[in-house]
Amino acid sequence: MTVTTTTEAPVDLEVDLLLLPVSTTPPAPLIDALAGTLGPAVDRGLQDFEAERGRTRVLYPEHTVAPRVVFVGLGDGTDFEADDLRTAAAAGAKVALDHEADTVAALLPASGPLNDTRAAQGLVEGLMLGGYRYRRYKTDDGFEGPSTIVVHVGEEHDLPSVEEGAERGQAQAAGACTARDLVNRSPDEKTARQLAETIQASGEAHGYAVETWGEDRIREEGMGGVLAVNRGSFDPPTFSILRWAPSNAVNDAPVVLVGKGVVFDTGGLSLKNTKDSMDMMKADMGGAAAVVGAFEALADLDVPLHVVGLVPATDNRPGRKAYVPGDVVRMHSGATVEILNTDAEGRLLLADALSYAVDHYSPELVIDVATLTGSCVVALGQAAAGVMTSETDAAAERLYAIQRAGERTGERVHPLPMYDTYNEHLESDVADLKNVGGRKAGAITAGKFLEHFVDEMPWLHLDIAGPAFRKTDQAYQPKGGTGFGVRLLVDHLDNSVRTRGES
Ligand code: BES
Ligand code: MN
Ligand code: ZN
Repeated sequence: MTVTTTTEAPVDLEVDLLLLPVSTTPPAPLIDALAGTLGPAVDRGLQDFEAERGRTRVLYPEHTVAPRVVFVGLGDGTDFEADDLRTAAAAGAKVALDHEADTVAALLPASGPLNDTRAAQGLVEGLMLGGYRYRRYKTDDGFEGPSTIVVHVGEEHDLPSVEEGAERGQAQAAGACTARDLVNRSPDEKTARQLAETIQASGEAHGYAVETWGEDRIREEGMGGVLAVNRGSFDPPTFSILRWAPSNAVNDAPVVLVGKGVVFDTGGLSLKNTKDSMDMMKADMGGAAAVVGAFEALADLDVPLHVVGLVPATDNRPGRKAYVPGDVVRMHSGATVEILNTDAEGRLLLADALSYAVDHYSPELVIDVATLTGSCVVALGQAAAGVMTSETDAAAERLYAIQRAGERTGERVHPLPMYDTYNEHLESDVADLKNVGGRKAGAITAGKFLEHFVDEMPWLHLDIAGPAFRKTDQAYQPKGGTGFGVRLLVDHLDNSVRTRGES
């Protein structure tokens, strides 16, 4: 995908499709600036267009070099937000797909509360995210989507700001599409080893370092949680370590990102039902996918932050050697866990990665990302991820920062409480902890389980079980893997660099 900017007159742009975002309330500044410049057909069309958010109309004007001009509604007034812009641009991207437009130019709308950088970023994200289609297994050679996006920059805009926004939008959306590709891939093509190979290739392509451990090293490290989940599997587990350590990093102690890499979750011997449950479980590596996509974007954008990624990976299956309810597992931290449900496997992988992070990096912050509990989907649906952290004095500020990133990116996170009393749900008769806390507050007890392994380091837990995967299209998220978490993480980390030192 090529993304460029231009200040050339819109009427002269040599593209297959020219996109005009329009808002309802006249006089829309964009329309004023364009009045008369695109010819009478466009002027008349604009007067006749109700700019409801996401509505589109295709025109074939005589005066423009572009054979098609598409209006797309931004909704009421001129106070549109980044999400309005993403949604509108995504609607435009769908028209581009329908018309098999290879090159698409979009006019950056004037005004609105957004600065030029955020506006350009939202426009590019909407085009790329909305124009995404997963075609790996389609045997017809259908249209792959536009290859070039041109952002038109009017006189009222600051060109360098727009360029910066376009670059950020491109990198973040591309990272999200990488995560979508990984989630959408058939489980028989993404064993733990194949996932690790894909991460290696990503590191080589984007310029970050990757080290992968196989089963022997995982055993040497004492990662009993990863090994227990892997016992029913034919395929060995992997543990991938991603490293982005630019020389101009502003931090010494790294930020660590941990992604749940359960490449397929049958539930193990505590087997899942197929419908609306196991049939989505190729997405159970959505957290790992988000970490990989975030690394690509961090590297592409040269973000001056030292970041480490940890991806423990395996499938979870029944089998002759599979772990059983009643098994007691010794974890990497040394703690023992009584398994009472083999379907609560994600926390076992994450716990090993978290205590490894504590031991080896003394991180300034750890964020784990995981499709962890159905309970979180019951609580929040698909509109937001659950976010949890230890209830210390720093909790409120930490939660606020990630929530703000959620609002900026449209990848919302909502806090769940982590009261001490929830620990009672995890008390085991025979071991230090049990791996399930019962039906009540399931998302939280999973969070409390993880907290046991973070040893007071600054930590955020993101339960993305709801928003990671969709069975229906929604605005700029086509059905399937959504790439949720990539833009959230990158925006949050990028912002933490910019605001460092402020208090
Ligand atoms: N991968 C699932 C959680 C999940 C559910 C992700 C729905 C996406 C959509 C996880 O491993 C799991 O099975 N969790 C159990 C935990 C329970 C046994 C305590 C759950 O949520 O039912
Ligand atoms: Mn499970
Ligand atoms: Zn799972």
